[in-house]
Amino acid sequence: MSQENSRTEVVSPARTFRGSVRLPGDKSISHRYAMLAGLAEGKSTFANFSTGADPHSSLACMQQLGASVTKEPSAITITGAAGNFQQPTGALDCGNSGSTMRMLAGLVAPHVGTFTFVGDASLSARPMERIRGPLEKMRARISLTQGHAPMTVHGGSLQAIHFDTPIASAQVKTAVLFAGLQAQGETSLTESVRTRDHSEHALRAFGAELERSSDGIRIRGGQSLHAIDAVIPGDLSSAAFFLCATLLFPDAQIVFDDLGMNPSRSTLLDVLVSMGLKVQVLNLEEKHGELIGTVQANGAACIQGATIAGTLSAQLIDELPVLAAIAPYTNSGVTIRDAKELRVKESDRIALVVRNLRAMGAEVTEHEDGMSIPGNQALHGGLIDSGDDHRIAMAFAIAALRATGETAIQGAEAAAISFPEFFPLLRTMSQS
Ligand code: S3P
Repeated sequence: MSQENSRTEVVSPARTFRGSVRLPGDKSISHRYAMLAGLAEGKSTFANFSTGADPHSSLACMQQLGASVTKEPSAITITGAAGNFQQPTGALDCGNSGSTMRMLAGLVAPHVGTFTFVGDASLSARPMERIRGPLEKMRARISLTQGHAPMTVHGGSLQAIHFDTPIASAQVKTAVLFAGLQAQGETSLTESVRTRDHSEHALRAFGAELERSSDGIRIRGGQSLHAIDAVIPGDLSSAAFFLCATLLFPDAQIVFDDLGMNPSRSTLLDVLVSMGLKVQVLNLEEKHGELIGTVQANGAACIQGATIAGTLSAQLIDELPVLAAIAPYTNSGVTIRDAKELRVKESDRIALVVRNLRAMGAEVTEHEDGMSIPGNQALHGGLIDSGDDHRIAMAFAIAALRATGETAIQGAEAAAISFPEFFPLLRTMSQS
């Protein structure tokens, strides 16, 4: 993000937090539907597609690969390339989106052609070796720039493999599944930690057969996909910010309609309940394998601390910045361990959370794989550096609601990567 585009949002302390909202569609599901609809035969229509810039990077890439995309306020329509991607005339620009670059690499690798992927400065610093390993084992050829983008995938006929995913990453798992769908033979994989399973549900929704057992996942190659119509569930990772804001005030209340409640993501609610949030889930239903519900949450008189480690850290990876940002307001603090992956997200989220907590007067200890934040701390308003990272900008806007004095969030425009409506909604829901 260039300096000229940098916007500062000033967040004032609130007395309470109240609102009722239907959030834009889940970012992870939107990416997968955009990609699979772009490969499928026929016309797919998606209502409540994510408004975030990242899934729109995926849509733009699909257009370059030969899919036709129409954006209307009520829905996005994608006519797929019917199994045959065209050779793009230029580089596929993934913007800030790691999901686009990693998952799409797997989707295009079985196609004859040369596909070059580029991204912004943040994405160009993120590790890509993790997808080169399995895709080259399947016989694609991938050139990286010192382990990063720009990345060129030299695609062609692929062979199925067995892959034990060494790091907990749904993006890597997805790259292998998307390549395996179009390879020769049956691809199988195991995961050390069960990561979000939207790809498995999406592949089935688009007509692919995929087997899941305690031994892992299997997908047969040579399968074709058909178009679907879907309403995308609201994004639980966006809701996380407002759920944490609700936790901060005893009389706060928030209601989300049509919120994504996929069990591989909703561990967040269990943690927030353990911290004191009162949560009611109503009208739970399943659409294309994804659970959707109405969620009502009420605040707590006393906010309990938490320890987040092991598999929990992997499952809550996107929510850790906001949980850390509210940690000083808990009664016994928050410890986060086994979360080294945070260092290679859109920013080094451990370093940046620690620096911004200190800017608000908090005491915090940084670990290589996390941080420890004591509870019962009063924060003052401060100058926050988003580091051009959407989740950092939003996390500290939530911490600011209980601070003394105003907080200035520099680089607040980064929120648009996943949740452009965040600051306007925050203003209507926080009551002074
Ligand atoms: C995502 C997986 C996670 C997450 C990212 C979205 C996905 O990344 O942090 O925001 O949609 O699969 P990793 O797979 O790299 O952990």
